[in-house]
Amino acid sequence: MGNNLLKGKRGIIFGALDENSIAWKTAEKVFDEGGKFVLTNAPIAMRMGKINELAKKCKAEIIPADATSVEDLENLVSKSVEILGGKLDFILHSIGMSPNVRKGRDYGDLNYEWMHKSLDVSGISFHKVMQVAEKQDALSEWGSIIALSYIAAQRTYPGYSDMAQAKALLESIARSYGSRLGSMKNIRVNTISQSPTVTTAGSGVGGFDVFIDFAEKMSPLGNATAEDCANYIIVMFSDYTRKVTMQNLMHDGGFSTSGITDALVESLTPKE
Ligand SMILES: NC(=O)c1ccc[n+]([C@@H]2O[C@H](COP(=O)([O-])OP(=O)(O)OC[C@H]3O[C@@H](n4cnc5c(N)ncnc54)[C@H](O)[C@@H]3O)[C@@H](O)[C@H]2O)c1
Repeated sequence: MGNNLLKGKRGIIFGALDENSIAWKTAEKVFDEGGKFVLTNAPIAMRMGKINELAKKCKAEIIPADATSVEDLENLVSKSVEILGGKLDFILHSIGMSPNVRKGRDYGDLNYEWMHKSLDVSGISFHKVMQVAEKQDALSEWGSIIALSYIAAQRTYPGYSDMAQAKALLESIARSYGSRLGSMKNIRVNTISQSPTVTTAGSGVGGFDVFIDFAEKMSPLGNATAEDCANYIIVMFSDYTRKVTMQNLMHDGGFSTSGITDALVESLTPKE
């Protein structure tokens, strides 16, 4: 049971693929907190059919949309406003995909068509969502829009490949569109930079098991789980964070400001 933090609020949640997805956990919590929403994902991702279970549980409707298609997004936003009976108070963009990562291309041998795809799916789609919603005047005053990022936007992680550029772009779009929507309608736009998390997207990154273990040891509070992330998103969608905008919010158990930790010293100290 929640605390009605999102009672009366309406929104769209992108990216719930299966029960490990950050968007899945978020949808469950938004529902518990009294929020109403439409679920969406790329038509291909829906073939698994898993999303129907979530929709049933959360009494939500599903509208397929490829987040790179403006036409799909126009349909999604207009239908969502109709179904939910009013303008949108929150949007979660929980989308990431790189064909180069997926197909294991070396960073010195990127396929540029695929790189464009990575940037479009994982970065530019965030702009498209907001532009479509703005043009349709579908956003409520004091709304909150969140996308999920990763620290590879600031520091290099070789296995993350062109997704690093996609996340840098995503964070930059959050600032630029946050400035626009803030002055226009008091709407806030932020990215949450999440710890490595075991999900379909996360596990596709080379060396993931090693760096999830490294991050765990390098974070005084340990890695933030998908559920922890969902809790943070609830707070960001609630009215308790109305003046937080244009930020990349680190949600990583202290990883990003740690030089070294006792746990790492211990694991790197040679055993006698
Ligand atoms: N898992 C991690 O370690 C981690 C860490 C930091 C940030 N993130 C970010 O969190 C977000 C959610 O990922 P996740 O870890 O929950 O994995 P996930 O695989 O469960 O979710 C990724 C989602 O993106 C959707 N998607 C891909 N292409 C799409 C398209 N063209 N249109 C619409 N949707 C599309 C997929 O169908 C999927 O639902 C992503 O932005 C990811 O980069 C993940």
